[in-house]
Order: sequence, then structure tokens, then C-alpha cells
Amino acid sequence: MFERPTHGGRAILVHVKFKSDHSLGADDIQEFKELAASTGGTCLELITGSTYKPQPKYFVGKGKAEEIAERVKHHQADLVIFDHQLSPAQERNLEALFRCRVLDRTGLILDIFAQRARSHEGKLQVELAQLRYLSTRLVRGWSHLERQKGGVGLRGPGEMQLETDRRLLGVRIRSIRKRLKKVDTQREQGRQSRIKAEIPTVALVGYTNAGKSTLFNTLCNEEIYAADQLFATLDPTLRRLEVDGMQVVLADTVGFIRQLPHDLVAAFRATLTETREADLLLHVMDASDERSDAYREQVDAVLKEVGAADVPQILVYNKIDLLKSQPPEVMTDVYTDQNSVWVSALQDLGMEELKKVIARQLDGDMVQGQIMLDSQAGALRASLYQKGSVLDENIANAGGWEMKIKLAKKDYHRLRKQFPEIHALQALEG
Ligand code: GTP
Repeated sequence: MFERPTHGGRAILVHVKFKSDHSLGADDIQEFKELAASTGGTCLELITGSTYKPQPKYFVGKGKAEEIAERVKHHQADLVIFDHQLSPAQERNLEALFRCRVLDRTGLILDIFAQRARSHEGKLQVELAQLRYLSTRLVRGWSHLERQKGGVGLRGPGEMQLETDRRLLGVRIRSIRKRLKKVDTQREQGRQSRIKAEIPTVALVGYTNAGKSTLFNTLCNEEIYAADQLFATLDPTLRRLEVDGMQVVLADTVGFIRQLPHDLVAAFRATLTETREADLLLHVMDASDERSDAYREQVDAVLKEVGAADVPQILVYNKIDLLKSQPPEVMTDVYTDQNSVWVSALQDLGMEELKKVIARQLDGDMVQGQIMLDSQAGALRASLYQKGSVLDENIANAGGWEMKIKLAKKDYHRLRKQFPEIHALQALEG
């Protein structure tokens, strides 16, 4: 019903540079071409132009629009993709002029997300975003693509279809929302059990195509997770991994894209919660791509937007097999303590080094030392045992306990707030 197939189209691409925009330029165009190619269509021609600001009717000026229409006719194209966000009205006007479908940047990215979403939740999120996007465009269907017929007082079948479409759209959106809520509850339960079990979460983030999924699979390859009941019901993009004797949960997340439309950031906020609540982020980059620095900034901007800016990161430079002479190695910035690891997920190079750095960095977040609890502090003592934080314990002469503990820094601070009666005998330090 709502399907407007976007695959296998013969497409003309349109990229407009705004005179006020001093961003990447040529790189933008290259990335746009790659995005368009990944929908599976054939790119017939790239039309570029520059202007001061978007025009209300066709986004581009009338002359440019007519030039594109001429090229559409010449190539007999069936799709025009704009590297910009178009209003529903602009899209309709352009379709009427070109007599073929027009896709804007949001539509294009949604299409790519739809192809790439792996988890159940991801698929639902994409569908919801697609339906919401379509609902703003569901004005008089796409009747402008057909010959206009009918007149005053005549409600053509198109109009009735439109009402049915709207109603079904509403039903579908509600049903997806309900299912998402259920997934969200399950995810929350999973998260709670991980917090209880004190298992740190390490989330993979990175620009699309950096190699996150490949790294995820390579890292988890030797792991046996079939019998792992705790995570059996969770999103399939979460796996348990052992690094240097330490249990962690590895989470794969959706790929980032430059100028991710705001609607989409909102749609993926739930998925990206994983990053906000992670103990550590592996920021995966394609070391062979000269745009990787610019992409890193884009990813950091989105992380900031979802509230994950303060989560510590390890920079993972992937695809070193494509570089001439870059062995797998670990580098630590002497000023910022930032760890960078050079790996190839595909060739399984540098994985041990990466695991060691993950363990070291997570361990660095632990504190260890001796505390004194008086005999009234039974609840706190039980809580420390439950967390598995007690290394040693002696009954103190004056009653109470002297304990040697080791736990995450943030847990220690939380406990200090909750139980002000903790007296540290020996400075707890990392
Ligand atoms: P999204 O799902 O779009 O976010 O991408 P991703 O970051 O998960 O990337 P993915 O793992 O799908 O890899 C993208 C492409 O890079 C694939 O064709 C991989 O085979 C390739 N790739 C991943 N790691 C390496 C590597 O170490 N070396 C080389 N040469 N290619 C790699």
C-alpha cells in the first residue's frame, strides 16, 4: 500500500552547494554518491549547482529544475535523489515536473537503514520512522504522477484510497509503538540484570561502513553464547565477551551518518541508550579513509546529542590491512591518556591488543582499599557481598567489620552517598 520501491532505480543525483556553507564540499558529494549507490540503484548522472538559499517551490531555482527535468527525459530516469531535505510540497512539485519519483536525503537514509537494520528493535524503529515520514507526505496520494481527472464534487478513487491509507497508517503506527514498548521493557530488564550482575557494557559506535559489525563478530567469534541464558532474550546485537579474564557485554549500535536527520536521531535514541549507559565506547574508524577525522567529529556530535559525550572512548582505527605499513599497535596520548588501537577486524589483526586495552581501561575505573563498617551497617555489607566487591574481611575489635573491597569507582561514589557511614581506613584508589 505505502510501498514506493526505491531499489534498482535508474537515478539522477542532485547536490546543491550553498554559498554560506563552508563544509566538506567534494567529500560531501563523494559520500552522497556512496549512499545512493548503496540503495542498489544505478547512478546515471550527478547534477550539481550552487545557490544562496533553497527556493520554496522546487528547492532549486526554476531554471535548474527545468534542466534536471530535461536530463530525466534524456536518460529516461525513474528516480531523482536530492542530497537535501525537501518539504513534502517541494517533493510533490518536483515529481509533477519531472514525471518521476523524487527521494530526499531523509528518504534515502531511511531506505539504507531499512536495509541494514539487524535487530528486531532496529527494524521496528526504522519502520516507525518510515511511516512517520510517509504520513507527512500522504497528501492526495501521488495522484500528481497520473493524469488529473475528475472535477468539482467528484471524489475519485484516489481520494478514497487516501483515507484508507491514512487510517491503516495510523493503525500500523500504533501497533509498532506497542511492540516497541514491549521490546523496550525487555531491554530495560536486560540492562537491570547486567547492572545487578556488575557486567560492564562496551558499545561499538562509528560512522557507517567503518567496520563495527565485522569487529563485533571477530571479537565474539570464539565466544560460546548459546547457553548464555541471561542474554538469550535480549537484542541479538548484545553479546558476552571475555577480555583478559573480565566479563563484559559488547553492544553493536546503528551506524552514524553525516547530517542524520533529526527525526531519525529521535527514532534511534532508544537504541543509542546503549551508548549513553555504556561503561566504555569503542569508536571504530576506517583508517584507510581520509575522511575519517571529519567522520569522527560527526559521530562525536551525535554522541553529545544523545548524552553520551562523557563516556570514555577507545579509538579503534580499523582496516589497517589497506594501509601500507601499519602494524597492529596501541598508542596512548601522553597528554589526554586517550588510547588508540590499530586493528584489522577482517584480517583478525590486533584483537588481543584491543581486548587488553579494553580490560585495562575498564579496570582503571575500579577502586580498591580498606573500609571500616560498624555493626549497624549490615545492609551495606550485604550489598557489597552481593556485588562481589569484598576481597577480604575481618571482625574488628570494637565490633563491626574491617573489609578489603574492590569495586567500580562510580559504584563506590554511589554507595558513599547512600551510606555516609562508610569510613575509609586506607584511601581507595585506582
Ligand atoms: P554499518 O552497518 O553501516 O554501520 O557498517 P559497519 O560499521 O557495521 O561496517 P561493516 O562491518 O558492515 O563493514 C563495512 C565494510 O568494511 C564491509 O565490506 C567489510 O567487509 C569491510 N571491512 C570491515 N573491517 C575491515 C578490515 O579490517 N579490512 C578491510 N579491508 N575491510 C573491512
